[in-house]
Amino acid sequence: MHHALQLFLALGALLVRTTASYSLPVQNHRQGQQHVLQAGQASTVQEQRPPQQPISPFKHRSNGFQTGFVALGDSYSAGIGTGFLGKEDDCRHGLGAYPQLIANDLAASQHGSPNITSAQLLACTGATTQQVLAGGEDSQIDKLNTSLPTDFALLSLGGNDLGFFEVMNSCVFRFYSFYSGTCETALEHSRAALESDEFAVRLEITITEILDAVRWEKKPWFFITMTGYARFFDATTEACDDMSFGVWWNGPRLTRELRARMNDLVLAVNNKIRYTVGLINAKFSTDKVLFVDHDDLWDGHRFCESGVVEPDYERGDTWFFLVGGADNARNGTNGTSTGISRNTGGGGQRNSPTALVDPATCLEPAQRSGDWGAQALCYMAMAKQRDPSLRPSPAMERVVLPLSRDAFLLPGREDDEVGDGDVLAGNSMWYVPTYYGKTFHPRTRGHEAIRDAVYRAWREMEEA
Ligand SMILES: *[C@@H]1O[C@H](CO)[C@@H](O)[C@H](O)[C@H]1NC(C)=O
Ligand SMILES: *[C@@H]1O[C@H](CO)[C@@H](O)[C@H](O)[C@H]1NC(C)=O
Ligand SMILES: *[C@@H]1O[C@H](CO)[C@@H](O)[C@H](O)[C@H]1NC(C)=O
Ligand SMILES: *[C@@H]1O[C@H](CO)[C@@H](O)[C@H](O)[C@H]1NC(C)=O
Repeated sequence: MHHALQLFLALGALLVRTTASYSLPVQNHRQGQQHVLQAGQASTVQEQRPPQQPISPFKHRSNGFQTGFVALGDSYSAGIGTGFLGKEDDCRHGLGAYPQLIANDLAASQHGSPNITSAQLLACTGATTQQVLAGGEDSQIDKLNTSLPTDFALLSLGGNDLGFFEVMNSCVFRFYSFYSGTCETALEHSRAALESDEFAVRLEITITEILDAVRWEKKPWFFITMTGYARFFDATTEACDDMSFGVWWNGPRLTRELRARMNDLVLAVNNKIRYTVGLINAKFSTDKVLFVDHDDLWDGHRFCESGVVEPDYERGDTWFFLVGGADNARNGTNGTSTGISRNTGGGGQRNSPTALVDPATCLEPAQRSGDWGAQALCYMAMAKQRDPSLRPSPAMERVVLPLSRDAFLLPGREDDEVGDGDVLAGNSMWYVPTYYGKTFHPRTRGHEAIRDAVYRAWREMEEA
């Protein structure tokens, strides 16, 4: 059993025996009302000694408080592509998302009382700092229900601010064919965004707003765990130099140089986040944000690993999604095994051949949503409209079928094992962007690694 989980279980036993009793005045900014929940002795909170280090959920749980958390940020914390029950929501939450896996562990640690855990999963595919910040149309912070216990936050943010999609599109897939822009330009844009202060400033505001929303002064144990990103490629193998993930014929080769440059971008983003988190922490007497770098756990599980012929749709040990690829959840994982994860992958349009996007109107809403899948799909439709003779690459022939000038259809391979969920998905437009949008996102086993890295970081923090 996982060491962290054992700790959870041990502390869970403590928790059921202790009664949470603290009073937390909550200011409802919107309605200007104050209300008190969880009647008890207010002094309990005051008696908490501010810790030198932020206390991990494991630790503060032994104080007997209710445990709840909030997950904020982008598709990495939403878990796009990792399976869903019923209908997929617009944010593309997946059952294999690492915040969901952590919620499962917390619930399991509570010995038959899973409802004492509250997990507010507010992350949304496509989100930039703009969508997290308070006041915006889709503000995640505004959705936070401060009446629910919120003892820690999980956050994944930065990839969309720093142009991951543009790089992916220009350098690897070229969804918009010749019009996709050069890889060089996309990398320069990312580099410029990284070097500007804008992201750092926005991240700092985001973190301050999260802290304020949960009234951190009253919760010395509260802290934000922010996860980074993983390098996509093994950049040393030679064979991949001749392979391509491009969606049209003659797509860009996955040269060692390209792979190295994209990996460097991921490392630069992680470093930027780590550095910014350091600056933010320096403004508090105790650290409020813990940056978790999980990249090392991905060794052997990236694209272009030794002996792998890309695109390899069958390799479960690759922890990123390919376009239209299946999830790799092991059986036994709640909800993410077999049928559900496969459903997220494909076959959904088998029985309903419909034109999926209108190339004349799709771009603005797709860009506004920030959703990689919506943008990819739109660009492909636009490319095909501008150039009807475009042919999908061999890599894509098994996953996308151009029906006509401007309509694309998922092929619904005959050998696909499909579960009941496919019927549900049949008419869902949302289904299709996920097919593309999950590309280069963690599959369930990647999320398990991120979860493990979070537990590892929490443990190291406690031992420090
Ligand atoms: C919590 O779960 C218990 C059983 O485990 C149930 O009796 C109780 O009604 C639940 N409470 C809420 C608020 O859902
Ligand atoms: C917030 O959570 C409380 C406690 O569960 C609930 O009663 C309330 O309806 C929630 N508020 C919103 C806006 O969902
Ligand atoms: C995993 O799934 C396979 C086939 O779906 C099944 O035969 C096997 O028993 C499952 N293993 C576990 C541990 O559930
Ligand atoms: C799996 O997840 C579903 C939905 O969250 C939940 O109802 C069910 O109890 C879980 N099953 C197990 C075995 O944890």
